[in-house]
Amino acid sequence: MTVNVVSTGEAFEFTPENVAWAKQQIAKYPEGRQASAVMPLLHKAQEQNGGWLSKEALEYVGDFLDVPYMRVLEVASFYTMYNLKPVGKHVIEVCTTTPCWLRGSDEVVAACKKALGIGFGETTEDGEFTLLEVECAGACVNAPVMAYGGEYYEDLDADSTTRIIEAIRRGEKPKAGPQIDRQASAPVGGPTTLQNIARGEG
Ligand code: FES
Repeated sequence: MTVNVVSTGEAFEFTPENVAWAKQQIAKYPEGRQASAVMPLLHKAQEQNGGWLSKEALEYVGDFLDVPYMRVLEVASFYTMYNLKPVGKHVIEVCTTTPCWLRGSDEVVAACKKALGIGFGETTEDGEFTLLEVECAGACVNAPVMAYGGEYYEDLDADSTTRIIEAIRRGEKPKAGPQIDRQASAPVGGPTTLQNIARGEG
């Protein structure tokens, strides 16, 4: 696999607040194991850098942790939550792995493409939206699922997907979680087991 890294030619460094935050993360790990903080630091660098990691940001994280650039790039290029090229203001990630696919992710993908006018890996011309395809988001019980703004939008179909995108476009933060009448990951229609046990008995 070829990994393309984009250089902006501009130095990257954490804000003073993010330096303090990064040091707190590193302090969670034993002496000499600071490299274990690579993932939270990459997240913070991505957040500060407008949603993506430039070559300079990757190098900065490597220097901050005193680990080789290549080790940082290995992590950043393995996980889909790290973006190695510029993204739009709103990043929508649609899961298309088997459980989501079986539960209708094709419909969700089609609704996203129609509402945004772009395909996977693309950004709208106005720079507002990027659409990404991701592997299992770990929420299969509520498939099909998409992620946006640090939240999961679950139990989607074409209508709810379109509604969510339109709400984001209007500047709203749509309600996250199941988009059908379901409590969290409980069975649709309510509990199916242990219904006769009074509160406190178990
Ligand atoms: S397959 Fe989509 S959340 Fe697991």
